[in-house]
Amino acid sequence: MNNDVLILAIESSCDETAASVVKNGREVLSNVIFSQIELHKLYGGVVPEIASRKHIEKINQVIEEALTEAKVTLQDITAIAVTYGPGLVGALLVGVSAAKAISFATGLPLIGVHHIEGHISANFIENKELEPPFVCLVVSGGHTHLVVVKDYGEYEIIGRTRDDAAGEAFDKVARAIGLGYPGGPKIDKLSREGNPNAIHFPRAKVEESVYDFSFSGLKSSVLNYLNSCEMKGEEVNRADVAASFQKAVIDVLVEHGLDAVEKYGFHEFAIAGGVASNSSLREAFAKECEKRGIRFYHPSPIYCTDNAAMIGVAGYYEYIKGTRSDLTLNAVPNLKLGER
Ligand code: KG4
Ligand code: ZN
Repeated sequence: MNNDVLILAIESSCDETAASVVKNGREVLSNVIFSQIELHKLYGGVVPEIASRKHIEKINQVIEEALTEAKVTLQDITAIAVTYGPGLVGALLVGVSAAKAISFATGLPLIGVHHIEGHISANFIENKELEPPFVCLVVSGGHTHLVVVKDYGEYEIIGRTRDDAAGEAFDKVARAIGLGYPGGPKIDKLSREGNPNAIHFPRAKVEESVYDFSFSGLKSSVLNYLNSCEMKGEEVNRADVAASFQKAVIDVLVEHGLDAVEKYGFHEFAIAGGVASNSSLREAFAKECEKRGIRFYHPSPIYCTDNAAMIGVAGYYEYIKGTRSDLTLNAVPNLKLGER
């Protein structure tokens, strides 16, 4: 008898319609992502109504492709995992409805997964030796969380952003210097041509909570710098602005993240989320982890940005723990990590 656990995972919380089949929690058999970025570019950011409509158009096709690519049918699947929050409500509802429909039609168990739990779990795909406990920094367009991963599915948030998420800051600064949406990858690329020490932007500290983050002051400081250059008629070196801004973000992430690893007595550290695909950020963490004797883990870029494979991994660990959702499962746009 075949005891393999095959999870069909669905993700539609923002602007990626994605489905994946994951075997035994760590082996990705397929990872299909339909990115809507080209559609939203026109508007300089994700338009929720457009995202929902596109998800509806694409969801069945993406799920079928994920099954075909994995060379399985629904009969081979053990359970269905789906992101049910946090995210855009209309977007989430498309994935949740599809997962519920398949569960109802086939009788397969249904498991609602937290999007951030998915991002963290992306680290398990290519790092077979990684197991909790460890510290994980989640940096995406909507979240900046420093999390102690105590066990599979068990988290303690020890730091979070007080205002903008790291990815949001990248996107807003990119817009201000005329790079367009999504800003993160564009700043990443342009920074390679700039001097990260050309302009000193502030590294914000949050007095009461040493592991919290704040990026809105940094964003304002960049905007003020651009305005003052304009008023003085000085030409802006966009590559220097991008590189200096990026360094200000990375410095704070590295310091808070690795101080927390040491303070809590861990030796392993992971990053996750869209911003974790930033090349300079990865280099900075690799260097500082080596210096401090900390083992550094990160997913490949394709598993950093939104995908369904990470939901399949998280769904697997929830499945073996016995977590089940029923057909009353609903989208929860502001779902907290660790909440059910
Ligand atoms: O994880 P993700 O795909 O979606 C959310 O859950 O938010 O993250 C998207 C965010 C966007 O803000 C995007 O600009 C940022 O990740 N991002 C990057 C890079 N690639 C994506 N930020 C910095 N450098 C990158 N290479
Ligand atoms: Zn995400």
